[in-house]
Amino acid sequence: MSSPPDTGSRSSGDDSMHASVLLRSGPGEPLHHRRVTRPVPGPDDVLIQVYAASLDRVDNYIRRGTHGMAVTEPQTPGRDMAGVVAAVGTNVHGFRPGDEVIALGSRTHAEYALAPYWHTLRKPPEWSYAEAAALPTAGRTAYDAIVNITRVQPGERVLVVAASGAVGSFALQLSSHLGAEVYATAGQDWKRRTACALGARAALDHYRADLADQIRAATGGAEMDVIVDPIGGELWERLLTVLAPGGRIVTCGVTAGARGSLHLGRLMTRGWHIHGIGRPGRTQIAEHLRGCLDLMVAADQRPIVDRTFPLAEATAAHDYLEESDFFGRVVLTNMAEEPSTR
Ligand SMILES: NC(=O)c1ccc[n+]([C@@H]2O[C@H](COP(=O)([O-])OP(=O)(O)OC[C@H]3O[C@@H](n4cnc5c(N)ncnc54)[C@H](OP(=O)(O)O)[C@@H]3O)[C@@H](O)[C@H]2O)c1
Repeated sequence: MSSPPDTGSRSSGDDSMHASVLLRSGPGEPLHHRRVTRPVPGPDDVLIQVYAASLDRVDNYIRRGTHGMAVTEPQTPGRDMAGVVAAVGTNVHGFRPGDEVIALGSRTHAEYALAPYWHTLRKPPEWSYAEAAALPTAGRTAYDAIVNITRVQPGERVLVVAASGAVGSFALQLSSHLGAEVYATAGQDWKRRTACALGARAALDHYRADLADQIRAATGGAEMDVIVDPIGGELWERLLTVLAPGGRIVTCGVTAGARGSLHLGRLMTRGWHIHGIGRPGRTQIAEHLRGCLDLMVAADQRPIVDRTFPLAEATAAHDYLEESDFFGRVVLTNMAEEPSTR
């Protein structure tokens, strides 16, 4: 993490780098620590020497080949990263070699990766690289859900489902900062305690069939104005039973399944607003990244990093993510290290 920035010059003549490589999708497929060709920035690209890159649930889907994301060709995973600018393309303005940045790019589980300059931000100096790398995908999604889509207001009751997840942890932090009365769900005691320590008024168990009763007991019978749901599946229908008349629910993930059923009569009489997170374009994503970063800094909050793994141990990091025994983000660091012989 303390190594000096690479200026982008190739004086050694070596244009290779370490990267994590998935050869094909399949349950338990290992990630290989390989030397691959270092990317070269196009006109709009920032080439970043990666000091930290987070793992996303999508990396898990690709590794396993679920959610329609199977790959048959080798690929380097990762979209989120933080590091130091090594070189910039001819159209890039606002960044130069040596700048400390956060970015939403591609193939970030590597020593070097590219991001378009419009999805690159300055890293707050007080944040670690690991914290910064936790922000892009989950932070911008939670920001869009809380600020743009459901427009959470001070004093509103907000239920953050799976608050231990990356999206959930940002949603909890952002809605608390906005003055909402936040409730959380999580599948384990220690996660529920952590959610309360982060500002949730109460945290309930989403694996229990009586979730609605737990929520009503916690609120004195009141229902939720806003529900942020990254899980979907069978849980979605149960969440609606505690959505207040005129309440808003936003689906921003379908980890547990893409099917849920809806009683149209209740939709009609309760006047709910049902939203999907959608597929924002590049300008909107840039706004969400900036908005999330600014709000986190204003709130004096930092992204939550559960654990870091060296890049060379990416398989262990993916296994850890799949076990779901974490809170916040799992992050890869030490990009240039050789594989551990342990
Ligand atoms: N549309 C978009 O642009 C967008 C952007 C970001 C994320 N997403 C999606 O949003 C979802 C959440 O992302 P994330 O990064 O927050 O996920 P994550 O960090 O991997 O969080 C997953 C957590 O969800 C809980 N969970 C509940 N049911 C689960 C199940 N069937 N399988 C695995 N975990 C389950 C687990 O906590 P408990 O132990 O508490 O149950 C787990 O720790 C993912 O589906 C992701 O693909 C979408």
